[in-house]
Amino acid sequence: MRKNKIFVACDSTNIPKIRNIINKTKNSKLIVGYKFGLEFLNSKKGRNFISNLKKEIIFADLKLHDIPNTCVSTIKAIKDLKINYLTMHISSGLKALSSAKKITGRIKLIGVTILTSLDNKALKEIGFNKDVKKLVLHQAKLATKAKLDAIVCSAQEVSLVKKVFKKEIITPGIRFDSNKNDQKRTVTPKQAYINGSDWLVIGRPITKGNIKKNINTLLYHLNQ
Ligand code: C5P
Repeated sequence: MRKNKIFVACDSTNIPKIRNIINKTKNSKLIVGYKFGLEFLNSKKGRNFISNLKKEIIFADLKLHDIPNTCVSTIKAIKDLKINYLTMHISSGLKALSSAKKITGRIKLIGVTILTSLDNKALKEIGFNKDVKKLVLHQAKLATKAKLDAIVCSAQEVSLVKKVFKKEIITPGIRFDSNKNDQKRTVTPKQAYINGSDWLVIGRPITKGNIKKNINTLLYHLNQ
């Protein structure tokens, strides 16, 4: 049977805690990668820690959002790390995305659509006129145009994205129960895979509390 794939969001600056997350999430029934975001990558020991991770699937969630030149320079600056996936906001624009894609080499460049912490009300506040679904679809087309390797969206939009984007789809905003924290567009793990997600990104539902127990809860949910 094909194994389900998850990225565990390592959102902490505490190295022993991150080590513990990596050790306790290893499971023969899952393919597990590790996602390091702005919090860890900006911490004093974070970058060095990642440079010593040789065997893991590493997802650098830098969420680049800048002019083409700065995005390209930043990618060059992290190339010494053995990173498998790197994120960039699609709203950086086509020129920035295409320029970045030209120099990422074997690093898979992931386009981030509308954050899963935003809903239609929040988009209106920012000043966007389109609703979430229309914007995500629009951005997925741009990701295809820029030849990106993967896309991040909510699992609520996967079927829509699949119509226009044919590569890997990665979905955060995964929740096992009603505790959404700061997320708005949440989906259960099982439903996310049914919808067609290739990878789920899961943070707090796994990393808070008893990690091994949380992994077993995830596997239980997937088998229901
Ligand atoms: O703890 P939780 O499961 O909400 O963590 C989700 C992770 O995915 C966080 O590290 C967050 O930065 C990231 N993420 C997200 N929504 C996106 C892109 C990334 O929640 N659209």
